[in-house]
Amino acid sequence: MLLGVNIDHIATVRNARGTTYPSPVEAALVAETHGADLITMHLREDRRHIKDADVFAVKNAIRTRLNLEMALTEEMLENALKVMPQDVCIVPEKRQEITTEGGLDVLAQQDKIAEFTKILTDAGIRVSLFIDADDRQIQAARDVGAPVIELHTGAYADARSHAEQLKQFERLQNGAHFASDLGLVVNAGHGLTIHNVTPIAQILAIRELNIGHSLISQALFLGLPEAVRQMKETMFRARMLP
Ligand code: PXP
Repeated sequence: MLLGVNIDHIATVRNARGTTYPSPVEAALVAETHGADLITMHLREDRRHIKDADVFAVKNAIRTRLNLEMALTEEMLENALKVMPQDVCIVPEKRQEITTEGGLDVLAQQDKIAEFTKILTDAGIRVSLFIDADDRQIQAARDVGAPVIELHTGAYADARSHAEQLKQFERLQNGAHFASDLGLVVNAGHGLTIHNVTPIAQILAIRELNIGHSLISQALFLGLPEAVRQMKETMFRARMLP
């Protein structure tokens, strides 16, 4: 199972003081050295954390691959075609939200998503759609030609009771199997922590997890190398559980 380390909040800390540190490039390189299989960053429309220059700098520096999360806008499409990341994950974006709330509504925007997917695919970029574990959205993702989906694990992570968490887990598990049977590559992410990642990592149909906020938070206490190592070890152990 692959770990994508999302480094957005390295930039959040940097921007809090307008300094040049901590550096997203340095964070990406340290994460790679200690087990990250890819680096994920979200260039939000309001540039609240990652800035345009960060994306180019990280793309040029890393040795693994860049997964650029972006909204479904012409501006972001142009950016992606300039940066040429290996992967683009199209996410819904509302300016007022604290983080990405809910998955992309592929059904409601099929034509536009199909057009973006074709342009990016023709440029050699692999497209992923960040969606909820809903069979109709998964089917729509396949219909628009996206080879990859990322299942939104936010409702699972935010569940307030064990019963609710179990319900959300089963939804993710069923969605992952449905998507994988359709031939889609299945990733997952959002709100995952060292404490809730194990059941998700046990879903064999999921190939990659993208984890940011909790991992960067752990890094404050443990250091980034140890936080990455700990997350990967937890994922690997989960895979080996019966
Ligand atoms: N995957 C996607 C598509 C996201 O938008 C985000 C948040 O930017 C993440 C994963 C990582 O979420 P978190 O920071 O909660 O780990």
